[in-house]
Amino acid sequence: MKLIDLLQDSILNRKISEKIAGDLLKISSEQLFLRKKNLAISPAVCKKFKKAEKAIVERGLPYQYAVGKSWFYGREFIVNKDVLIPRIETELLVQKALSFLHDRIKNLELGIRNKKITIIDVGTGTGCLAVSLYKESRKFMIRNSQFTIQLYATDISEKALSVARKNSKIHKTKIIFLKSDLLDNPKLPQKFDLVLANLPYLPSADIIPENSIYNEPKIALNGGKDGLDLIEKLIRDLPNRLAKNGLAILEIDPRQKTEIGEYTKKYQLKTIFRNDLNNRTRFAMLENKR
Ligand SMILES: C[S@@+](CC[C@H](N)C(=O)[O-])C[C@H]1O[C@@H](n2cnc3c(N)ncnc32)[C@H](O)[C@@H]1O
Repeated sequence: MKLIDLLQDSILNRKISEKIAGDLLKISSEQLFLRKKNLAISPAVCKKFKKAEKAIVERGLPYQYAVGKSWFYGREFIVNKDVLIPRIETELLVQKALSFLHDRIKNLELGIRNKKITIIDVGTGTGCLAVSLYKESRKFMIRNSQFTIQLYATDISEKALSVARKNSKIHKTKIIFLKSDLLDNPKLPQKFDLVLANLPYLPSADIIPENSIYNEPKIALNGGKDGLDLIEKLIRDLPNRLAKNGLAILEIDPRQKTEIGEYTKKYQLKTIFRNDLNNRTRFAMLENKR
């Protein structure tokens, strides 16, 4: 069968059917566009496409769950119903973390003795943040071989950790994965230079069947009544768990800016908010100056 016929027969939105076909054939959307008229596809790919199409149409599954993978920061990640599908806005969190590392290395060069940088990704899900940071940081760590990074990633869900470990193996990273309620595992170091967290931050009332996120794990979405249960719990720990001049970068709901700003004052954390690509407040950057 020709790919063009498969796409034309599909009842899915054209963008989604092209995305699924591209994923199954392991070719980019540009390649797909150039080659789709003549590309012959095997019965096996055709069968997988039909199966994904059925899951999307009949069960309302996001296409990433239907094909079992998603993309984040230029890499492919395994996803299943036990993990949140990585979001494009979260890629900015990786950029901010890299910028922190870059500055930290410059400062260490200026004479600070401790040349080990300890990082944790709290609520790792697919592992997309930890894996991306590990891979991207290699690029400039190679040029600065006197520095080492120790990367931890935690999740309260054993099933999510199992997905994250698989992704870590595929991308050949050396991340330590631990089951933990936030930072509460004795195997974790006491202090971190950098804490990354995209914790569940939606108010419980937002998680309703009419909302497209409803298919994703509640444990990855539900932040309690105002969405802040876990974020506030983590903030309470930060004065003790962030090293001096350490930074925490939290992904947040734009509606939480004022409350988080008030809350962090109590804990003497210097707080700056940053926007996402839609110009909505999406990140809280909390620095421990003590
Ligand atoms: C919004 S998802 C983020 C996943 C991933 N970091 C990302 O950015 O795509 C939140 C994750 O936090 C985990 N989680 C929920 N409660 C937690 C807790 N108390 N401690 C650690 N992880 C938790 C969930 O299982 C889920 O994997």
